[in-house]
Amino acid sequence: MANIETFAQETRIFPPPAAFAKTAAISGMDAYNALCAEANSDYDGFWGRLAREQLTWHKPFTKVLDETDAPFYKWFEDGLLNVSYNCLDVHLQNGNADKVAIVFESDGGDVVKVTYQQLYEKVCRFANGLKSLGIKKGDRVVIYMPMSVEGVVAMQACARIGATHSVVFGGFSAKSLQERIIDAGAVAVITSDEQVRGGKRLPLKSIVDEALALGGCDCIKNVIVYQRTGGNVTFNPGFDLWMHELVANQAADCEPEWVSAEHPLFILYTSGSTGTPKGVQHSSAGYLLWAALTMKWTFDIKPDDVYWCTADIGWITGHTYIAYGPTAVGATQIIFEGIPTFPNAGRFWDMIQRHKATIFYTAPTAIRSLIKAADADEKIHPSQYDLTSLRLLGSVGEPINPEAWMWYHKHIGAERCPIVDTFWQTETGGHMITPLPGATPLVPGSCTLPLPGIQAAIVDETGHDLPNGQGGILVVKRPWPAMVRTIWNNPERFKSTYFPPEFGGNLYLAGDGAVRNKDTGYFTITGRIDDVLNVSGHRMGTMEIESALVANPMVAEAAVVGRPDDTTGEAICAFVVLKRSRPTGDEAKQIAKELRDWVAKEIGPIAKPKEIRFGDNLPKTRSGKIMRRLLRILAKGEEITQDISTLENPGILDQLKEAQ
Ligand code: WTA
Repeated sequence: MANIETFAQETRIFPPPAAFAKTAAISGMDAYNALCAEANSDYDGFWGRLAREQLTWHKPFTKVLDETDAPFYKWFEDGLLNVSYNCLDVHLQNGNADKVAIVFESDGGDVVKVTYQQLYEKVCRFANGLKSLGIKKGDRVVIYMPMSVEGVVAMQACARIGATHSVVFGGFSAKSLQERIIDAGAVAVITSDEQVRGGKRLPLKSIVDEALALGGCDCIKNVIVYQRTGGNVTFNPGFDLWMHELVANQAADCEPEWVSAEHPLFILYTSGSTGTPKGVQHSSAGYLLWAALTMKWTFDIKPDDVYWCTADIGWITGHTYIAYGPTAVGATQIIFEGIPTFPNAGRFWDMIQRHKATIFYTAPTAIRSLIKAADADEKIHPSQYDLTSLRLLGSVGEPINPEAWMWYHKHIGAERCPIVDTFWQTETGGHMITPLPGATPLVPGSCTLPLPGIQAAIVDETGHDLPNGQGGILVVKRPWPAMVRTIWNNPERFKSTYFPPEFGGNLYLAGDGAVRNKDTGYFTITGRIDDVLNVSGHRMGTMEIESALVANPMVAEAAVVGRPDDTTGEAICAFVVLKRSRPTGDEAKQIAKELRDWVAKEIGPIAKPKEIRFGDNLPKTRSGKIMRRLLRILAKGEEITQDISTLENPGILDQLKEAQ
């Protein structure tokens, strides 16, 4: 509630700069309202018009939305198209073959530019290479790669032949990779020998080897390896293949596989409120439509823009706003291999200056950590760089606190660039609630209003609308083209997670809480309402981390909660009961370290708990239910003032105050 009140008190309003509004794709609130009205009066007509305008169809669709099997909605289903054709071939036909598609900058600072013609040829060669291995439409391919041109090529090549890719973030462990390979039933893994981040070389191929050695991955017929560093890797000839050898003799053209609009373009695993991640499955046409449209609406992309999204291709933002959105609209984009703090924390500002970036899209965590760095060292303060090329800023992945927003606005945007605080999720495919930079007056900390056609609302626990000013559960009332289609291998979980019967079975449940401003109707996201944490914009399930902890032979029981953190948004706090007695002193520190390393091995370093607290037990009710509410208070370091009379074992609360 404190959160809600802070945002409700925010009174600063920043109208769109007149010069920006003048040329914007959606210019002014009247234009926004007109699009919303069009969607409201003829939903099918609205989406049908946009799908015809934005995409190139091999065979046009005759029906827009099919709701017969709701909530398994189908969009444009009898239309045929190819996503890679829409991202590449169309630009060659439009005279943009020599336009730069990707400006790639390596961790060490080397820059490579790739034109649309070159990207097309790379994708076609690799697509032909995949075909030569017998990989075909409908097969699943796991991609475990660094930020690279080749990562985008791999994704686009899969799309070209109709194979469904599943990108696994390079920070995930062998075990996480193995689970995803098995669930997806993948026929191949595309990886690289190593990745380079912050001056360090980190293995990828050997983690793939480890994943396959864990067993159950017989579905994999080949591992294709992009040679990034030339580092030593174990190579099993015939099974392991070098990407450069595979493409060496392939033709530079590849007839695209025309697929149904509903063909699964990709599966992306994400965390939910159970121990196992869910394979969010997206479609081809509806997804691409939204990727292209939001590039235009939210980012107001223009032919001369130099666009930069700092996300990793292992997350949804890297899918929609690197691999597909920018290419669908023929944009020039920067792809960066490294990290914001190497060789120093001025790297982002230096790159904006050198590449003359015009649109910059990053996460609040990055902004917050760079604020700290800039305060500590004036040599890398953004004022030391020429950032005048910028015209638009974006934020994604977590709520951006008003202080960070104001800093971003002042120091990066020179009080001149609108900031689009884009709320969306892996499941939504693209932006849902976001300002339009040439229309929406901005309020720091608010993602403002839903995009045209998106029927977002706030309801109570029974699915009834709540008035503005009252915090509740964020839902979307009508299907939209880019929405998740199902959970791979688990349609029942899809239904119960996103369209729960308690809400009538027809409201999409986002998993977030939100509140609308009394006067403006603007949305502010108040955080997840399920057991999902958001650490540095990385989404993680508390259950997943708990399962990893209890898999350790020393651990009897574990409960994980989030607590607010100045830089990472939330931090992971684990309460652990060991099978032996509660450790103290140095021993507790040692075991905490072992458990952190264990979690890194089980899930990945991003899931390492920041704090571990040992107890002889966890606070439980008499019926044995863990009182997470109390754990959250303890994690914040606050005193427990509420009634704990239902607690079976109040004595252990004191033990749990000490953090390792
Ligand atoms: C959170 C990332 C507030 C939210 C694109 C959501 C946000 C989860 C914002 C999805 C934002 C994302 N303001 N919260 N602008 N953007 N979130 O699937 O809790 O990795 O449910 O997708 O991030 O995370 P995911």
